[in-house]
Order: sequence, then structure tokens, then C-alpha cells
Amino acid sequence: MTILGGGGFRVPLVYGALLGDHAEGRVTRVVLHDVDAGRLRAIARVLAEQAAGVPDAPAVTVTTDLDEALRGAAFVFSAIRVGGLEGRAHDERVALAEGVLGQETVGAGGVAYGLRTVPVAVDIARRVARLAPDAWVINFTNPAGLVTEAMSRHLGDRVIGICDSPVGLGRRVARVLGARPGEAWVDYVGLNHLGWVRGLRVAGRDELPRLLADPVLLGSFEEGRLFGADWLRSLGAIPNEYLHYYYFTREAVRAYRQADRTRGAFLHDQQARFYAGVAEPGAPALELWNRTRAEREATYMAENRETAGAGEREDEDLSGGYEDVALALMRAIARDERATLILNVRNRGTLSPLDGDAVIEVPCLVDASGTHPVSVDPLPDHATGLVCAVKAVEREVLAAARSGSRATAVKAFALHPLVDSVNVARRLVDGYTAVHPGLAYLG
Ligand code: G6P
Ligand code: MN
Repeated sequence: MTILGGGGFRVPLVYGALLGDHAEGRVTRVVLHDVDAGRLRAIARVLAEQAAGVPDAPAVTVTTDLDEALRGAAFVFSAIRVGGLEGRAHDERVALAEGVLGQETVGAGGVAYGLRTVPVAVDIARRVARLAPDAWVINFTNPAGLVTEAMSRHLGDRVIGICDSPVGLGRRVARVLGARPGEAWVDYVGLNHLGWVRGLRVAGRDELPRLLADPVLLGSFEEGRLFGADWLRSLGAIPNEYLHYYYFTREAVRAYRQADRTRGAFLHDQQARFYAGVAEPGAPALELWNRTRAEREATYMAENRETAGAGEREDEDLSGGYEDVALALMRAIARDERATLILNVRNRGTLSPLDGDAVIEVPCLVDASGTHPVSVDPLPDHATGLVCAVKAVEREVLAAARSGSRATAVKAFALHPLVDSVNVARRLVDGYTAVHPGLAYLG
């Protein structure tokens, strides 16, 4: 298995999941690739400490040569961050200066991130098609839905996008309803970071109406507090937490502007300290990583939760996300063990307002033959409207990345529901191209 972005902070989560897998057909060899040799060294030290005392720990090698990393890989995990956390901080700041939302994956910030990531992702996809044509690509790289779609144009259904947020949401809803994990069927669909739980069936019975009718239950979990009982009842569904940016845009922008530091800037400083710390001779790499991780998770989406009085994320929710989805997906494919997972895959007729190649986020049956989206009920019109609008923006991003057209980039920003003027879109393109070397291609 090859991990692109192998010097990334979340890599030890993935390796930790692999360490817990002792079954036949498990991953025995991990190749870490990164463009930054220092970060690779730091993460390799953390992994070495994780592997200490585990006799069948997967062997780890590192390289900065992309083609060498890809050649013959069975699974390629792509978890890169083009422009780094400094880029993420720019994404946030340029948008906020215009009074619009600058979030990692949502609004103007997400468009900017997409514009600089798509060309890199497409280059990777082309190389995979040439050097590892039988590989399955698991894409964690954000904006995950858009990036998966960009790669799918070269890899078809062999690229699968993953995210931890639908699983986390499904788990929280199941827990408040008292359903045992695994016995509930979560009816969730949309785009990445833009989906809704419309039902939760236990033994064939939909338990969601019981939750929506109960203010105490609604007040007892994160999304219940974030969106408020009245709004959830009006929707008749539980939205992904990222929909807070759409439903409470003003409050979210205000909170972001008032914060003394953006999330990207906070993480940039925090990670700089972590990587410098691990580079010290004799540093306790794993301990430093654990401490940094706990701090990162405890502050996740803090602005939103404070705005809505939603409180902190419960402790049991701080683990068992992203890496578990990845491992479950690999197992299902490698061992032909049928599993149901919420994934980012090509639509193939699932949501009729979108074409077959549009990547959506939907429960899928997975086995050795790949992913099979489960047919779902249509979305209500208000949700279809948002999904189609954001997909249209994604398509403009893909077109701009292909053509290098500045006008198409302006169109992508201008059509986004969270950008409120074409003039703002023009200034965003100017602002972003001024700070992002990765956008130099927009002539
Ligand atoms: C969740 C989302 C990811 C996103 C991350 C941001 O896990 O699913 O797509 O990248 O949150 O968390 P961070 O700690 O980087 O703000
Ligand atoms: Mn995600």
C-alpha cells in the first residue's frame, strides 16, 4: 500500500488501524511518499514507535519519488494537501477579507482549494493509470468529492473517495436512538460535506421520526444542538455538520471573522511545532503526536459549535473515523468481504438529477468487484437544489483546471451559493492567485 502525503499528520491513524489487522490478506508493506523529506522522516519515526513490539507490523519505506512509490501498488491512499496548511490559512483569509466564508472545503475556500488541488490530483491519476493500472485509489484528499471526480475521469470506478463525517453522524444518531452499532441502516445521501440522514432503520423500522419528535433526545447530541430542534423538524432530516455553513451562513462568517486565528492558521502553527519537536534528537515522537492530535480534535469545528452552543465533541467520538473507513474499504475489496460503507463514487443513476459521472456520497455495497451504490429515495427539492448548484460549481472548477481559464475560475466562485456577487468572485480570483503559487496556471 502506498500513502501519498505520507508525511501528513493523520498517517499514524491509518498505520495504527493496519497494526490492528492480523487477518490473512492484510497489508504487509507500506510505502510513504511525500514531497517533503523532513515531514516523511518525522512521521516514519512516529510509525516506528507505534510498531515497536508488534511482531507482524507492516514494513515501512519512504520515498520522495512519486513514480517509484506508485509502481506496482495494490492500494494507493491519496491524502495530500497542496499548498500545505499555509495554503489553507490563505484560503480562509482571502475569503473572510471579502466577507464570505473561507472554509477548508466549503464556499470560496473550498473552491480555491479545489482549483489548486485538481491539477495535482489529475497528474497522480494519470501516473497511477500508467504505473499501477490494477491499483485501487482511496482518496482522502479534500475537497474529497471534487477531487475524486477529477481522478475518476482517468481511473473510472477504481478511485473511491472517503470521509469520516457521514459515519460519525450515523454513529451519533444511532447512539441517541439506542441502536447497537451495526444493526442500524443509515439512509444518507448527497455530496461530500453536503449530505443528509433521512432515516435510520432498525429491523426495517425507521427510528428517525422518534428522534425528531423528542426535544430531549435532539438536545443530547452534537448536530441536534448545532442545528436546533425546530430546524431539524422542519427539514425532517439530520444534515451533515458542514451544512451549518449553508443554513447559518451569517453566524458562521461572523464567528470566523471574530476568531483571533483561523483554523488553518492554528493548525499551521501547531503542526510546525510538532514537526520541529519530532526532529529533535531523542524526541518522544509518538507521545508528541498523541498530544498534538488530542489538542487538534478537541478544537475541531470550535467556531461552529460555539456559535450554536453545541458544546464540545463527546470523547467517544474522537476516534474511529477516517482510518476505520479506509481499512474496512480495503478489507472488503482485498478479501471480497461484502461491506456497506458511505463512499464518494460515481452516481451511475442513483440521484436522477445528476449525470452518471457525477461523484456523490452514498451508501455502497463493496466487494472484490468494487463499489455498488445502493439505490436511495430521491432528495427533497431544497436538497436537490443545493446539490445541483454545488456540483455545477465543481464542474466549473474541473473545467478551469483543464483549460487554465481565469473566466471559468471566476464563474466557479460566482456560482457558489455562498458567494454573493460576481464582483466578489472576481476579487477572490485576484486575491487567491496573488497568494497561491499553485494557481499560477490561471493566466
Ligand atoms: C473532518 C472532515 C475532513 C476535514 C477535517 C478537518 O474530518 O471529514 O474532510 O479535513 O474534518 O479537520 P481539521 O482538524 O483539519 O480542521
Ligand atoms: Mn471529510
